[in-house]
Amino acid sequence: MSNVKLAVIYYSATGTNHQLAKWAEEAGKNAGTSEVRFRKVKEIAPKEAIAQNENWQKHVEASKDIQEVSLDDLEWADAIIFSTPTRYGNLPSQLQSFFDTTGGLWSQGRLANKVVSGMSSAANPHGGQEATLLSLYKTIMHWGSIIVAPGYTNEVLFEVGGNPYGFSVTQGQDELGEKAKKAVTHQVNRTVEMAAKLKA
Ligand SMILES: Cc1cc2nc3c(=O)[nH]c(=O)nc-3n(C[C@H](O)[C@H](O)[C@H](O)COP(=O)(O)O)c2cc1C
Repeated sequence: MSNVKLAVIYYSATGTNHQLAKWAEEAGKNAGTSEVRFRKVKEIAPKEAIAQNENWQKHVEASKDIQEVSLDDLEWADAIIFSTPTRYGNLPSQLQSFFDTTGGLWSQGRLANKVVSGMSSAANPHGGQEATLLSLYKTIMHWGSIIVAPGYTNEVLFEVGGNPYGFSVTQGQDELGEKAKKAVTHQVNRTVEMAAKLKA
């Protein structure tokens, strides 16, 4: 048991990143953290836009009881796992919008030295998974947080696409099965382990 406090923070329109985040939550609890907070990023898209996509509408309803992320969650955490879909290689506006509220914490140095790792998804195999993680990591660098990417530190990564920036999937093409879960678990374990070393 370590004394690492882990926040799993995700945005998902149609469920993929919600699934990755759920695996990360489970892995975090098994990694001997002192506590795991599971948080979704607030949906800010207009109702009409959501209603045009049946899967989006269904996911919004299915996840309505999940607690939304707050600034307190960021400050509280020693380690953070983000999971986010691509939007043309960028972050979704929902997550960027949340990041745009972190100026106060950032300017006081209260986001520095957190250990952070990201996961992503796109609809195409080369649809922007790496670029999206780089977009995420730019903010993390500005916070002064510490990025722990998986690299090629476990055999399973070669069987799930080998994205060294962070675990990622191609929605509708990659199987969200045991190997994917193992890769997520490895990434979470590594992140928690690094946070524990830093705290020690
Ligand atoms: C506005 C918008 C832009 C997107 N841009 C891309 C893209 O450039 N390439 C791609 O492969 N997928 C793109 N996608 C697809 C999403 O990334 C994909 O549906 C997502 O990874 C699924 O994650 P989720 O189920 O967690 O929402 C885009 C989706 C939307 C709504």
